[in-house]
Amino acid sequence: MENLIKAYNTRFGPAEELFRARGPGRVNIIGEHTDYNDGFVLPIAIDRAITIVGTRRADRQVQAYSLDFNELTQFSLDEIEPSRREPWSNYIRGVLLYMQEQFELPGMNLIVSGNIPRGAGLSSSAGFEVATAMFAEAVGGFSMDPVEMVKLCQRAENEFVGVNCGIMDQFISRLGKADCALFLDCRSLEYELVPMTLGDHAFVVTNSAVRRGLVDSEYNKRRAECEEGVSILSTVLPGIQKLRDVTVEDFEKHRGLLSPTVAKRCEHVVWENQRVHDTVKAFKAHDLAGAGMLMNESHDSLRDLYEVSCKELDILTEIARKTPGVLGSRMTGAGFGGCTITLVAQDHLTQLCDNIEKDYPARTGLKPEIYICAAADGASASKL
Ligand code: GLA
Repeated sequence: MENLIKAYNTRFGPAEELFRARGPGRVNIIGEHTDYNDGFVLPIAIDRAITIVGTRRADRQVQAYSLDFNELTQFSLDEIEPSRREPWSNYIRGVLLYMQEQFELPGMNLIVSGNIPRGAGLSSSAGFEVATAMFAEAVGGFSMDPVEMVKLCQRAENEFVGVNCGIMDQFISRLGKADCALFLDCRSLEYELVPMTLGDHAFVVTNSAVRRGLVDSEYNKRRAECEEGVSILSTVLPGIQKLRDVTVEDFEKHRGLLSPTVAKRCEHVVWENQRVHDTVKAFKAHDLAGAGMLMNESHDSLRDLYEVSCKELDILTEIARKTPGVLGSRMTGAGFGGCTITLVAQDHLTQLCDNIEKDYPARTGLKPEIYICAAADGASASKL
């Protein structure tokens, strides 16, 4: 924070009032590739975030400086276009463009920096969008319904940045709460905060350090396969809109209608939705062993049925599962690289880290990064 204020003063000169906003990253405990099927997810916000410091200007200009890229971008609120030279600024541009449809925005000067590893599947982009929206709300002096803000941030990612994501990442970044996971119905957008009383256990997030090259094209392919499944199943299950509407029983009865590939994709989604409900029940009953087993099942399904894992993520989960005290381990996020999340007993944490740091480089030639993650608060903004 002090760095950001110092950088602000150096670049823009001292301001009468300064605002700060932050949008955290996230890790998903379970419910993968279910959000765009109108299903259920259970993410936590993490204590790593994108932070913005700045203030309003008297004119219609926006000047934004990224400390991480060492780049300045500037544009007028009256002419917001995507930038090819400073692609990181498209998160700011997209959010401000759509916010202007509803609110009168002032020009602004801002500095941005973050500590969410980029490209690791921890949703630095959602954190950036949400931080921008929170900042604009603070300097603009208006107040926006949090769920409407989530939808606007998702729209910025879908339509302006051009990434076809679901709603999970923006939702948890905006609405996460410390020590809780957020159990979200991605259709109604109703949610429940589920206390994460882990006691003598912890979540460990491990970055595989695999570049997520395939992720965009394969992500869109999976979405299309799910839609194909719905369209075929709707001939015998009239009224279904999304895989969310298909029960495990109905799916098993009619799976023969689907091509083998589409059947595998649908099987993952239909059972994964059920696993999210079961995991919430397990956490509420303090049954961490049960929750861990469901996390393992989720990974195996993402690997074998949805086919979005990769060798390195599988190796990380194998190393974790062989370590005593580990209750469950799975890939988290879109897949094809990124991170795993592991539920482990505190007194085996050191052993888990040692095993990962020794075995993973030996088997892959890659250097993992390990983060111990507690569920943190969602976005916030304030006057400094
Ligand atoms: C990415 C997307 C999310 C979600 C996950 C998979 O993180 O941004 O909307 O679809 O993949 O669960």
